[in-house]
Amino acid sequence: MARLVIVSNRVPVPRPRERPQAGGLAVALKEALATREALWFGWSGQTASHTGGSPEIVTVGQTTYATIDLSSEDYRLYYTGFANGMLWPLLHYRMGLAEFRREEWEGYRRVNRAFAHSLTPLLRDDDVIWVHDFHHFPLAAALRAAGAKQRIGFFLHVPFPPLPLFRALPQGNILLRELASCDLIGAQTPSDASNLRDALRGAGFDVPVHPFPIGIEAEEFAREAEKAVRGQDARRLADSLSGRALILGVDRLDYSKGLPQRLRGFAALLRRFPEHRGRVTLLQVAPVSRGDVVQYRALRRELDELAGRINGEHGDIDWVPVRWMTRAVPRATLAGFHRIARVGLVTPMRDGMNLVAKEFVAAQDPADPGALVLSCFAGAADELKGAILVNPHDPDEIAEGLNAALVMPASERRARWTGDIAVLRRNSAAAWAEGFLAALAQIGQDAPRAGGA
Ligand code: ADP
Ligand code: F6P
Repeated sequence: MARLVIVSNRVPVPRPRERPQAGGLAVALKEALATREALWFGWSGQTASHTGGSPEIVTVGQTTYATIDLSSEDYRLYYTGFANGMLWPLLHYRMGLAEFRREEWEGYRRVNRAFAHSLTPLLRDDDVIWVHDFHHFPLAAALRAAGAKQRIGFFLHVPFPPLPLFRALPQGNILLRELASCDLIGAQTPSDASNLRDALRGAGFDVPVHPFPIGIEAEEFAREAEKAVRGQDARRLADSLSGRALILGVDRLDYSKGLPQRLRGFAALLRRFPEHRGRVTLLQVAPVSRGDVVQYRALRRELDELAGRINGEHGDIDWVPVRWMTRAVPRATLAGFHRIARVGLVTPMRDGMNLVAKEFVAAQDPADPGALVLSCFAGAADELKGAILVNPHDPDEIAEGLNAALVMPASERRARWTGDIAVLRRNSAAAWAEGFLAALAQIGQDAPRAGGA
């Protein structure tokens, strides 16, 4: 079997005693890698005096991790600037939050060339290269320019907006041309794939683009949840609830996750359905993410205030309605929290997939599963038909969804959960990766490669 070379901005190099990484990409890929020889290349997460150079190499089992540093300036231009200040809001349909700066655009492309430069000497002729996410739209073209002839696939973990919105990106056609150096492009949902295909075709490129919805290792997560629920943290949480129903939110602190709207939805529940007052607790775990981006700092302030206001207005001497935590919690511990929760509250304004929704379902006790309240704008809504779907723009709809979940009889919860867990078991992380790589291998055999050297 050919070696798999993964390229992504974040690389979860196993380091003892490191904080857990919140982010779907690292989680899904790590689970998908278990069975093959792989090289995983990307940013070290550190800044230094220069970008690039010889990668730092760590090998664990069959996986070699190779990472390079970014200069502080490139971190600002490429990561904080173009990737997270321009592309992220654009791809999540939030053009009003996007800021384009020519120097950031140039920094982004320069970093991608530096990635290609550092990666090329590590490549073998028969490698299969799989590039991930919006940080690396130009990478395939940079690798081709450096002489790479290997098959290259690309997977977009986040949504892709309709063409008229994408056209707001200055120089967008250059990005599409560079992306077109790949042999196959994957997206999370049929609508993301169709938007991306339209954009590429509109710019004159006919690369295959198909949906490959990302999965999780549901059985493994379920085992983790079963174990964690007996652990100290889960027991502390369960005891502290004093019999109240737990509503759980778990997200990076990101405006795409709809956190202020979610808190307003919870407040609307307490106002409109007073029978739940004093009987429910919302625990929202939202570790700080991209704290150097100004919009993210503003969001944190807004949420600190909102959580305080709701607690002030609705709380009682023996009841704090919202528990608000901005530090990361190990994924295994979260698995136990999911299992304790009566309701999983996952209401992004827009999300490529949203693995948290899938993790909530996987973690449930089959005999007494909780109910999932899910945004209709999460990619996961295409698959999880047992969820209660809500429009996250409407706090009243969130409140009604929460009420429906809280009063739902156990028999209905079991029926909904049984359908959803079957979907998750079929589409595991490994099946997702194998599906994409099989399609990539096929394309390499059927036709000459687009943009191949
Ligand atoms: P995104 O990739 O936008 O962060 P996803 O929901 O797809 O969103 O993936 C998030 C991943 O990160 C999940 O596997 C989840 O368990 C993990 N995660 C999310 N929030 C936290 C948190 N508060 N602490 C630790 N891990 C988290
Ligand atoms: O899943 C989308 C994504 O942007 C990943 O590419 C990324 O690793 C994750 O969210 C977390 O974001 P960041 O790497 O910027 O902390």
